[in-house]
Amino acid sequence: MAMLEIKDLKVYYGVIQAIKGISFEVNEGEVIALIGANGAGKTTTLQTITGMLQAKEGSIIFEGQDITKVPGHKIVSMGMAHVPEGRRVFAELSVLENLKLGAYTRKDKDEIADSLQRVYRSFPRLEERKKQAAGTLSGGEQQMLAMGRALMSKPRIILMDEPSMGLSPIFVEEIFNIIKEISASGTTVLLVEQNAKKALSIADRAYVLETGNIVLSGDAKELMNNESIKKAYLGE
Ligand SMILES: Nc1ncnc2c1ncn2[C@@H]1O[C@H](COP(=O)(O)OP(=O)(O)OP(=O)(O)O)[C@@H](O)[C@H]1O
Ligand SMILES: [Mg+2]
Repeated sequence: MAMLEIKDLKVYYGVIQAIKGISFEVNEGEVIALIGANGAGKTTTLQTITGMLQAKEGSIIFEGQDITKVPGHKIVSMGMAHVPEGRRVFAELSVLENLKLGAYTRKDKDEIADSLQRVYRSFPRLEERKKQAAGTLSGGEQQMLAMGRALMSKPRIILMDEPSMGLSPIFVEEIFNIIKEISASGTTVLLVEQNAKKALSIADRAYVLETGNIVLSGDAKELMNNESIKKAYLGE
């Protein structure tokens, strides 16, 4: 059984259909990339899975449970974390306060402290800046904070929406290394990216979304060599 199973999902904004009946699955331990152009429906898909948007039809099964109608805050406590598009840290709060908020569904203080140390090990810069207001961090640092905050919920699966957007090449490299580490530590990853080259390079499998439909899927390495993918998404 797949860890996360999306079946015939349809999502609308008013009368406009953004997602037109997509199905895909994520197995435990995989890194799955969801790639596609602007407006393809990537963010809509992630927001529907995490309960921020409601599906009109279809179902979302997480670890055997139907979460299609479960509200977002409950989904976090079930072991799914979301790093939203555009980071969305709490600008007025400090780095440390933002990280602590990521653990709001957890009770065990020692375990939370342990997670904090792990986040600091992955992102030493966040520890250096723990007292700084999140809104004054650089873009790349805010991305690290958004990821660190998601990790503070100790998720079994993490959904990331364009973690490399707007970052300089060095930061992009760093963020992708950390995604690899997150995966190596046993967390399953569903990664939405416009940087298809990078995403495919770390993914096991990928799905290609075009105007609300999945038009192609398969092994990430094979997709990297697919001529139409090369032309449309890899700039080759
Ligand atoms: N709140 C909204 N109201 C109406 N239409 C919306 C809304 N949000 C998104 N859409 C539309 O739904 C479609 C899918 O948008 P979505 O944000 O999911 O795309 P995306 O693949 O994440 O794109 P990008 O790469 O630019 O982030 C687009 O046509 C978009 O204009
Ligand atoms: Mg998006």
